[in-house]
Amino acid sequence: MAPRDASGAGPRPDVLVVGGGLIGLLIARELVLAGARVEVVDDRQEGAASPNAAGMIAPIAESIADQAFARISIRSRDLWRHLAPALEHESGMSIDYDDSGSLLPVLDPAGRPDSEGRRALDRIKALALDLGEAARDVGGAELRDLVPDLRPGIEEALLLPGEHRVDNRLAATAAAAALRHRKVVLHRATVERVAEAPGQVVAWGDGFERAAGAIVVCGGAWTPRVHGLPALPIVPVKGQMIAFDGIDWPFTGAIRTPAFYAVRRAGGRLLIGASVEHAGFDLSLSDEVSADLAAGAAAVLPALKDREPVEHWAGLRPGTPDPWPIVGRLSERLHVATGHFRNGILLAPLTARMIPPLVLDQQPDDPWLSIPEVMLPYRFTAAERLFS
Ligand code: GLY
Repeated sequence: MAPRDASGAGPRPDVLVVGGGLIGLLIARELVLAGARVEVVDDRQEGAASPNAAGMIAPIAESIADQAFARISIRSRDLWRHLAPALEHESGMSIDYDDSGSLLPVLDPAGRPDSEGRRALDRIKALALDLGEAARDVGGAELRDLVPDLRPGIEEALLLPGEHRVDNRLAATAAAAALRHRKVVLHRATVERVAEAPGQVVAWGDGFERAAGAIVVCGGAWTPRVHGLPALPIVPVKGQMIAFDGIDWPFTGAIRTPAFYAVRRAGGRLLIGASVEHAGFDLSLSDEVSADLAAGAAAVLPALKDREPVEHWAGLRPGTPDPWPIVGRLSERLHVATGHFRNGILLAPLTARMIPPLVLDQQPDDPWLSIPEVMLPYRFTAAERLFS
């Protein structure tokens, strides 16, 4: 018979996932698919990364020009191709998944079409082709047909047709619905402390107490606030975004320039992002940042000039001292998956697939599911641990 925990809340789960952002929810889903009894606890933290992200699945345009990182990102993008329809099927709702690509107009950092911008895009194109990813130049009538509102004078762009985007809010809602259909319990509480005890590990917080066979902490920028974990060098990196309505260009993917990105949503919404601010847990909104984002976008997409943003928000990316997330075992029954910085939505499916073999002590059935050393929690020097 399954052991009961002290709270009397029913049979002890095999795994408790602490953090119900997209990564935590997808980890829970993979664990359930692997046969584990799973529960999730989340406190709907304001500013959490996954509901406040742009939803880009952009292994080349958003990745950090590092081949190893790009390869991992491409693998996760491939998983999204299967995950998106599966989540829609399991939840019975659309997640507004789009695979029309990223479009990078030829611009220099000051926003002028010129040869410096061309050279920068040629480097991105070469990286993409080296990695076996599609990349092609578009111009003239084809470019105008895709984005009729592009500023006159911008005649060329690089299209990365392998890049996707998703409505991250819908994806997380669908993942939670899919778990509920499978009778997974989703607790609402802030976990303040975790500790290993003989044969189990326990999480406590504001009236909440739950023992489990294992815990996976996916707390994003808030992960270091959970007592009982070793020091993890994670800092919040604020990103402010704005959105416009009423966009109807045929191109429904993401447009990127050195100054901003613009990501479509079903229903005519266009998200513009994002600032990168080291401001601790501050989530205040700045009119200046909003105006800068709007002006940067309107310089390339003049149709935005006379419109008012319909939304302005901020989220906190979990940053680490290097470009890599922190995924792996902390102690026998305690694991972590966080620190995905700008790439949480992109890397969510691969991260989720990496966790069940680790937690359930199974051999990964795919070499990509062996967590690379660059992601492991104990890779940091003492000085880097002080980062947080
Ligand atoms: N991934 C986009 C951002 O972090 O702004």
